[in-house]
Amino acid sequence: MAETQPAVVSEEKFIIHNLVKREPRAGLAADVRRGLDSQPKRFLPKYFYDQLGSQLFEAICLLPEYYLTRAENEILERYADEIVASVDGETTLLEMGSGSASKTRLIIEALLRKQAELLFIPVDISASALDSSSRILLQSYPQIRVEAYAADYFAGLAELEKTERGRTLALFLGSNISNFDPEEALRFLRALRQVLHQGDALLLGADLKKDKRVLEAAYNDALGVTAAFNLNVLARINRELGGNFDLRAFQHHAFYSEAAGRVEIYIESLRAQTVEITGLGISVDFAAGEQIHTENSYKYDLGNLAELAANTGFTRARTWLDHGEQFSSSLLLAV
Ligand code: TRP
Repeated sequence: MAETQPAVVSEEKFIIHNLVKREPRAGLAADVRRGLDSQPKRFLPKYFYDQLGSQLFEAICLLPEYYLTRAENEILERYADEIVASVDGETTLLEMGSGSASKTRLIIEALLRKQAELLFIPVDISASALDSSSRILLQSYPQIRVEAYAADYFAGLAELEKTERGRTLALFLGSNISNFDPEEALRFLRALRQVLHQGDALLLGADLKKDKRVLEAAYNDALGVTAAFNLNVLARINRELGGNFDLRAFQHHAFYSEAAGRVEIYIESLRAQTVEITGLGISVDFAAGEQIHTENSYKYDLGNLAELAANTGFTRARTWLDHGEQFSSSLLLAV
């Protein structure tokens, strides 16, 4: 396999390993082909986050209905010092799915109150989000170095397993854990556990189970940003794979299934139609009302979280909640 090339090196304090660029579009093409061939049709959530998708997600985080980001911010603002005090010694900060890294700043600042320097290792599927967030962080904090991985989670973790680190605090924020189904969540946390040592920690953000109306509003905002974010996957296929999806002929659909403990998110075809994707050499038929599954967002309770930790080589040492008790941040210790 080819060596990872640092694709962007602006200064010695900043390295990006771009694992996504290695096979540009090959992953997207194969996954879209497979997903549209499946019954029911489905897309993988990681394809939401092209440049536009990442920005739309940032906009979602500002929506009044999407309480998750504000609740987690409140927790980190209030407890960052307590959180970093749970890890002893000079600490490296690793973040899976860092996105714009705005919440990360609170943890970085708390760590820099404890230590003079910091190595920050963000892993994110969006190279553009990584590049801009890293540059901003480096400008704000002269004491940090950034070694970024543009990669999907599992590829990023596989790469990280080849290198050594000292005491590490890992972050998996924003309830990104929500988007894994239960088996994938186990697989992900076990893979993350593999790159950590005993005594290292993971700060895991998880949205809590709650009233259906509150959950459904968070995924059906009045302004329609979530709908745009969801439908952008079709726009992305048009742009990158030569598709001719008519975005006005599809709609966003999301609801909470109490039985499954998850918000289910779909794109629904408003009429019977055929879509051509020239880059894949296929045409795809949709029935009126047919759905493409794009994401699940699992909701947790504290029991679920303790069990998840116990099954993946961690123990749930502490959990902090926002004042509305809508969101949880748990410190899982590697045992
Ligand atoms: N991790 C986020 C969540 O589950 C992602 C997200 C928010 C999302 N809104 C969405 C994904 C709408 C798909 C569609 O809360």
